[in-house]
Amino acid sequence: MRHRTFGRTGWQVGELGYGMWGMGSWSGAEDKESVASLELAVSKDVNFFDTAQAYGDGRSEQLLSRIAADQHGKRIFTATKVPPQNRQWPSRRGVPLGQVFPRAYVREYVDISRSNLGVDTIDLLQLHVWEDDWLASGELKQTVAELKRDGSIRGFGISLNRWEPWNGVKAVQSGLVDSVQVIYNIFDQAPEDELFGACRENGVAVIARVPFDEGSLTGALTVQSTWPEDDWRSTYFVPENLAESVAHADALKPLLPAGMTMAEMALRFILSNPDVSTVIPGMRKARNVESNLAASAAGPLSPELIAKLRAHRWDRKPTAWSQ
Ligand SMILES: NC(=O)c1ccc[n+]([C@@H]2O[C@H](COP(=O)([O-])OP(=O)(O)OC[C@H]3O[C@@H](n4cnc5c(N)ncnc54)[C@H](OP(=O)(O)O)[C@@H]3O)[C@@H](O)[C@H]2O)c1
Repeated sequence: MRHRTFGRTGWQVGELGYGMWGMGSWSGAEDKESVASLELAVSKDVNFFDTAQAYGDGRSEQLLSRIAADQHGKRIFTATKVPPQNRQWPSRRGVPLGQVFPRAYVREYVDISRSNLGVDTIDLLQLHVWEDDWLASGELKQTVAELKRDGSIRGFGISLNRWEPWNGVKAVQSGLVDSVQVIYNIFDQAPEDELFGACRENGVAVIARVPFDEGSLTGALTVQSTWPEDDWRSTYFVPENLAESVAHADALKPLLPAGMTMAEMALRFILSNPDVSTVIPGMRKARNVESNLAASAAGPLSPELIAKLRAHRWDRKPTAWSQ
């Protein structure tokens, strides 16, 4: 496993990290299978795990506790997220920080997550939604300083709303955050415009999330794909989005070099960018852990292929269904 420096924290994290939303609340999640996949990943030196209290109301954090609590003889980095108090994903513009992440509420959720994770100190505490306007309030700075001082957390980060990489640049420049988590993949290249440069200049780590665009970039979706009603993807891949996502993914297939899968191309595109500290594909199945490890081991894509993939940038605007 190649390691990369996690911004100014200096942590050496595996470039292939682990996304844990699906195992917390997507349909078809089986704890036994999820834990086996986590253990496989740890045995192959994956050491950065991204979860959230909101992923199955603590279920995903509790699954992570199976490996984080005793560290399996390795240094395992736990990253989790405080849900917004008003339970609005994404955050609504104009709603003040005090209604979303008040100090006492953040502290309460840090304790809930520490208990779920079975750790005294959370390596990286992230806010699950973000508005750069919240910087105007000094409260958050104090809360973060306090949590770091008392040993509840080591690092602090924000998770940016879908398709809004611009709405975090000020936070990066402010010195408040150690990391940003942002959607970055073959379609969503906009973080390269401003955000990544700001992160580089300020020693802020980049967690690239949703590498497969929630599934379309694995090449496995069709316009006939469906999900159970209680699976979040049924509300995201509404007919309009599913049809467009499948069309955009299909347009990539002729570019695939012999022997390369869509998932491999998607992951290696992200990892070819040195601004990325770690990429966190969602993985519940051991075979996906294995193939994503192999993609990381294969190294960057050729500059020729990257140039062709750049033309598949797809800029989208948040909608009622994008969440
Ligand atoms: N607001 C936020 O902060 C936020 C929002 C979204 C996501 N995230 C984080 O980012 C992580 C990644 O995003 P995501 O899980 O939503 O979506 P994703 O990583 O784009 O896609 C996950 C899907 O890809 C499948 N997959 C993984 N590796 C594969 C491979 N090699 N070949 C074929 N299929 C493969 C997974 O299958 P299996 O699961 O069946 O193995 C799962 O269905 C999340 O888990 C979460 O930690 C954060």
